[in-house]
Amino acid sequence: MAKTRRKLRSTEWFGKMDRDGMAHRSWTKNMGIPHHLFDGRPVIGIANSWSELTPCNAHFRDIAEHVKRGVYEAGGFPLEFPTFSTGEVLMRPTAMLFRNLMSMDVEETLRSTPLDGVVLLAGCDKTTPAQLMGAASVDLPTLLVSGGPMLNGRWRDQTIGSGTHVWKLSEMVRAGELSLADFMGAEACMSRSAGHCMTMGTASTMASMAEALGIALSTNAAIPAVDSRRYVLAHMAGRRIVEMVHEDLVLSKILTRKAFENAIRVNAAIGGSTNAVVHLLAIAGRVGVDLKLKDFDELAHDLPCIVNLMPSGKYLMEDFYYAGGLPMVMKEMGKNLHRDALTVSGRTMGEEIADAECWNRDVIFNWDKPFKKKAGIAVLRGNLCPDGAVIKPSAATPKLLKHRGRAVVFEDIEHCRQRTDDPKTDIDENCIMVLKNCGPKGYPGMAEVGNMPLPPKILKKGITDMVRISDARMSGTAYGTVVLHMAPEAAVGGPLALVKEGDMIELDVSKRRLHLDVAEDELRRRRANWKPPKPYLDRGYAKLYTDHVMQADKGADLDFLVGKSGRFVPRENH
Ligand code: FES
Repeated sequence: MAKTRRKLRSTEWFGKMDRDGMAHRSWTKNMGIPHHLFDGRPVIGIANSWSELTPCNAHFRDIAEHVKRGVYEAGGFPLEFPTFSTGEVLMRPTAMLFRNLMSMDVEETLRSTPLDGVVLLAGCDKTTPAQLMGAASVDLPTLLVSGGPMLNGRWRDQTIGSGTHVWKLSEMVRAGELSLADFMGAEACMSRSAGHCMTMGTASTMASMAEALGIALSTNAAIPAVDSRRYVLAHMAGRRIVEMVHEDLVLSKILTRKAFENAIRVNAAIGGSTNAVVHLLAIAGRVGVDLKLKDFDELAHDLPCIVNLMPSGKYLMEDFYYAGGLPMVMKEMGKNLHRDALTVSGRTMGEEIADAECWNRDVIFNWDKPFKKKAGIAVLRGNLCPDGAVIKPSAATPKLLKHRGRAVVFEDIEHCRQRTDDPKTDIDENCIMVLKNCGPKGYPGMAEVGNMPLPPKILKKGITDMVRISDARMSGTAYGTVVLHMAPEAAVGGPLALVKEGDMIELDVSKRRLHLDVAEDELRRRRANWKPPKPYLDRGYAKLYTDHVMQADKGADLDFLVGKSGRFVPRENH
């Protein structure tokens, strides 16, 4: 039996010799739990976002079993529970609409039940930030285990990556370079094992962010989902969370300003997703760390990308793991990393990465001879986005990073699809595609539609990139000269709402400028005539969301969820 050094939270439920204590133990014993497990040992929640509607997390029941082994081995008592699960590919109108809902589910379950610590199981894009946001508002000892990426996609003689090749191959079909039958033939070859997207998309980025924040064990980001070492990691997480409860090593001791600075810099070094911006801002808001959009540019704009992974490069997460994974990247970062930041292991980040080695320099480059220079996310300002917008220069076409073009305007995503495929639309490769009403309130949920497909007549010329601007997000697996997260969004009357067909727009990433070249008087006239779009739904969660969601520069969290309420519950339930 494990001896605790102090009275644990769970004894308020299981340690009482009265009516309530009897009831709490009695019903729990119906699962075949022996009496000695109620002796005051740490009760560990396993927050499982398993769901067959979230294919990326469909193997999580196996992972949970390995976490349990570790918890038992260390003298804890594991209790697994399901969470709401946001699957990226099946949820409409977008999984991001439900990230905050999932975070509320996680938060309320953690606080309302007899848990002393929690292991969060996350994989698909939104499940990682949602788990961390919810847990941050409770602040128990917390450790995150990612489900791990799928094995490399393999189609004929080509290595293909999740998402990235969906965009690439579908553009080839639209350009007439690939048959529909061949395109369909690639689908089973892309997703050929359990796990999440194996490009450096949002899921792999967020797994890397968890490791860089110090909230996951070392090597968490890259071990493939089906590699036996993923299960060993889960087992060790189960052991460690029991120790963390004894140490009262709560989440807020790990998620400090230094941890976020490490994560922002690591995101540049791995060529990570722009989605990390909204997710890190939202997590910081919950835990009470003062993080701003401008920090992403100031801390990391001049840092290089040293990882040659899709969508910016050619390899995939499996290759990244064999090459040395995230510990090796962080070791390469040298003084650009706060090495004294504390991690869930109880050791500093510097201690965690000290022994990392690189086994393939074509996957993980040297810091001084990087894969791409100046790869951090750039934050743009200007009269089109007074509260900011982001672009990932490493995924853009260099010559388009300074560009002046004629606006071709789409009022919403349906208008965009209809006009893009219409050969009569007056558009050429020098135009700037402008998409409105796809932000947090407008879509709603700020969907990943910012990388608008190019018109077929342009693709047929062999052109694969144009400047595209919107208040939407972009899949982390996508690429292109795409300005995203424009704030305020069009649906709340941001300047984006005022752009008209034929206006001239200037993008200058080196000057961090996005400018609508229209006179102030004319903009004032347009604003006086602007009417907000009709809401998507005016009941239920969608109404709660659109009434309370904040703009992208604040992380698109709900305004009343910012901050934390802690773990204390004063009242019994009967
Ligand atoms: Fe789930 Fe990409 S769709 S991680």
